Amino acid sequence: MTRDQADSLRNQHRTMRKSPGSKGLHSARKIAVTSGKGGVGKSNVSLNMAIAFGRLGKRVLLVDADTNLANIDILLGIHVQNTLADVIVGSAFFSDTLIDGPEGIQIMPGSSGAVEMLDKDDVVRDRILAAFDDLEQRYDIVLIDTGAGLSESIMQFVVSADDVILVTNPEPTAITDAYAMLKVASYRNTTMNAHVLINLAPKPQEAKETFNKLQLAVRNFLQFDINYLGALPIDPNIPQAVAERTPFILRNPRSSASTAMVMMAHKLLKMPVKNEADRASFISRIFRQRVEE
Ligand SMILES: Nc1ncnc2c1ncn2[C@@H]1O[C@H](COP(=O)(O)OP(=O)(O)O)[C@@H](O)[C@H]1O
Ligand SMILES: [Mg+2]
Repeated sequence: MTRDQADSLRNQHRTMRKSPGSKGLHSARKIAVTSGKGGVGKSNVSLNMAIAFGRLGKRVLLVDADTNLANIDILLGIHVQNTLADVIVGSAFFSDTLIDGPEGIQIMPGSSGAVEMLDKDDVVRDRILAAFDDLEQRYDIVLIDTGAGLSESIMQFVVSADDVILVTNPEPTAITDAYAMLKVASYRNTTMNAHVLINLAPKPQEAKETFNKLQLAVRNFLQFDINYLGALPIDPNIPQAVAERTPFILRNPRSSASTAMVMMAHKLLKMPVKNEADRASFISRIFRQRVEE
């Protein structure tokens, strides 16, 4: 990014921050679903949580930002026609990328390298940023499946979100990676709202104990607090739901995993958003961060 581009973005964001309610519209709550280690259940959590929010009457946009293993579309058995990359090169409109999902949710499918492509052309970038700002005002919640690990593109989503759902299983390797994620992210966002979801928990008690250990380490060594969002049991219905390309919350609505999902969605919505005044979209926040670094 050139110095001129950086200056113009900085000014743009300053104006946005000064007049958060200038358009008289609300902004979506931005929630990143992430993990230190892969394969711990992020995509299943993202999709089923999005549907749970939809059932609670929220307008939800689910963004598949896992650029290595974009698979929300596979979990839903839908065929993707256009991605953000097509919008950037001008062969599709924003609205062409959105897919209708269950319970009124909408899905923006994955496309690798799209955010990086925006660095190249400031006219296109401004157009996309403006479109995203408008788009997010139409939703109550924007939920992002970020993919696993500490790569820069994942960290940008994690540190730009209002809430982070950190998914882990109780295995020591997953917990160590979850801790590493919290450590790196908390350096860049000192007011991060981190909610831990323990997946594949053999027993609720064990899940809570796993969380307690992680919380103790985070308190002692990183000096901040994390929230316990809840746990999902090991449930053989979940791989079956994946095989059938049906979200488990629809396939087995009364299972303990589905009930837990709904409870966690409720719990998260009750927690306050720390930075309510900041209305910039996810993508705008990511660009603001790049400028400030
Ligand atoms: N609670 C669970 N019980 C049983 N299997 C699960 C559970 N959560 C996830 N899985 C299985 O684990 C696999 C990985 O889940 P996925 O959501 O794709 O993880 P990630 O997005 O983190 O890579 C899936 O095949 C899914 O069926
Ligand atoms: Mg995934």
